[in-house]
Amino acid sequence: MSKILPPLNQPQLKSLEELTAKLTNDQIIWLNGYFQGLYAGQHPGNKSITEGNINGEPSKTPLTILYGTHTGRSEKIARELHEEVKIKNFDSTLNAMDQYNVRNLKKEKNLLIIVSTHGEGEPPLMAEDFHSYITGKRAPKLEGLNYSVLALGDKSYKFYCKAGEDINQALNRAGAKAITELIKCDVDYQNDADHWKQEVLKHLKSNQSSVDPTIYHTDNQTETSISYSRKNPFEATILDKIRITGRDSDKEVYHIEISLEESGISYKPGDSLGVITQNPESLVAQILSALNDEGSELLDTHSGKISFRQALLHHYEITILTREIIEKYAAKSKNKELTNIVGDEKKLDTYLYGHDVLDLLHEFPCKINAIEFLDILRPLPPRLYSISSSQEVVGEEVHITVSKVHYQNKGRERLGACSGYLAEQLEKNNKILIYIEQNPNFRLPDNDSPIIMVGAGTGIAPYRAFMQQRAATNQKNKTWLFFGDRNFSSDFLYQTEWQKYLKDGQLSKIDLAFSRDQKEKIYVQHQIEKQQKKIFKWLENNAVFYLCGDMKTMAKDVESTLLSIIEKQGGITQKKAMEYLKKLKKERRFLADVY
Ligand SMILES: Cc1cc2nc3c(=O)[nH]c(=O)nc-3n(C[C@H](O)[C@H](O)[C@H](O)COP(=O)(O)O)c2cc1C
Repeated sequence: MSKILPPLNQPQLKSLEELTAKLTNDQIIWLNGYFQGLYAGQHPGNKSITEGNINGEPSKTPLTILYGTHTGRSEKIARELHEEVKIKNFDSTLNAMDQYNVRNLKKEKNLLIIVSTHGEGEPPLMAEDFHSYITGKRAPKLEGLNYSVLALGDKSYKFYCKAGEDINQALNRAGAKAITELIKCDVDYQNDADHWKQEVLKHLKSNQSSVDPTIYHTDNQTETSISYSRKNPFEATILDKIRITGRDSDKEVYHIEISLEESGISYKPGDSLGVITQNPESLVAQILSALNDEGSELLDTHSGKISFRQALLHHYEITILTREIIEKYAAKSKNKELTNIVGDEKKLDTYLYGHDVLDLLHEFPCKINAIEFLDILRPLPPRLYSISSSQEVVGEEVHITVSKVHYQNKGRERLGACSGYLAEQLEKNNKILIYIEQNPNFRLPDNDSPIIMVGAGTGIAPYRAFMQQRAATNQKNKTWLFFGDRNFSSDFLYQTEWQKYLKDGQLSKIDLAFSRDQKEKIYVQHQIEKQQKKIFKWLENNAVFYLCGDMKTMAKDVESTLLSIIEKQGGITQKKAMEYLKKLKKERRFLADVY
């Protein structure tokens, strides 16, 4: 502080420091504005301040920030940006897309959009209406508008950042002026998002405040040093790790308990745990051998100067292929067969499934050195697991439920990067790097609405957290669990806990679907269908419907079953049933956490 306020003497500085130590960020920001106003009144000749409105306050650059999010990342970036620009003399308004009146678009001067992509190239639910309005026929002309879009996505999906691309194109078609190019962020979004923020702020005309903004940066830094994130994870200790599937199950599912002691970390039921992972050592060894490289050479990487082996083990994705990796490798290898695969959507889709980077090296060998090879890969993102505990019960602990991904393909065992790491390499008392990823869109209701929880396999995890929370806070909502897996005897995850909740009356109903216990396959959607009258009645009584688990099969089937239940039991057309479901989603009464 003394650096930016040299005119103050020591006692004055001391009093100021005592005062500001007790203030929140918002209060400091308010004081900033207050002093500017005061100063403007006393020094009307001051140039930087009189270049403003008739009250002598500096005129602020209007800015609207809109976000469309499902799991909360876009919202987080938007909120941080909003806070940052407020002190840089922007008149900033922040809105979730579903809270924004699109009729105001014509009045906007500067618009920043942060939006992710979900489903298969779709906008998040809260961005659906905005997306369809701006990309549709009724989109207005927006010639006077400056805009920029930050798109969040995941390169492993076919329609990478599609929603952001659509909105960017639509704004461009409407005649709005892009102040930066569209920036797309892969799962490791922080650096790109920071870069976008800088670019955007550079280009937007801002009347900078005369107060040195470093005062706030200092404050923010103090905050981040205690709030753990993917860039600054907490080194936690594993307290326990128990396999919770039976010996004869072909699935390996682990319940893992992690200590948060001395971290100050808190989370809510519905949140996810981010785990900094590492790749299987055997895969790294096989890649090095295929490249005929010892791996000891030090290389310049996005994570600094490290050995090739360390880079492959800790910093680059090697267990999953993305389109971009295959395209880059095809361009490097000039292999005809691979180029053919890249040019054929169907073949590319098939190749992406169940193959990894080592397959590329084995099947389409080419001369490639370590640096060129790393250039093809993407940074290794942390993995997210739905938290299966409530702090009301476990205090300074966090629990997760992890299914080990492992399968054979082309004579080689394939292992999921993080599930393999947790299942095979980490034991009780080992250290693990973690952080919390909030999921504001998967929360318990704050009223006494009944809740219906549908999950298959590890999709049960957040419901364990929900039930712990409810039991500890003595909530009285009616609760109904639909759970599905392969076999009752070996795959009923947390069986005794559910039985106890049922006995105590905390769980009102349970319906189970064990697909392999009988000849015909029974899945959760079949049980839901059987109970359709009751399900509809619960929905009509304001129930919240939760869905967690595999996106490709279970989630789609459950959603279409629910739709047909609404149609049949509501006695309405399919179109009306779709509107009913859409309304549930808008009212946050149909919530999905699918992967
Ligand atoms: C079920 C599901 C489907 C997804 N589909 C896509 C997709 O089609 N394209 C894409 O680029 N990213 C996709 N993603 C990745 C998200 O866009 C990415 O995780 C993003 O960082 C989430 O941002 P948000 O928290 O603001 O919603 C998907 C993620 C999930 C969980």
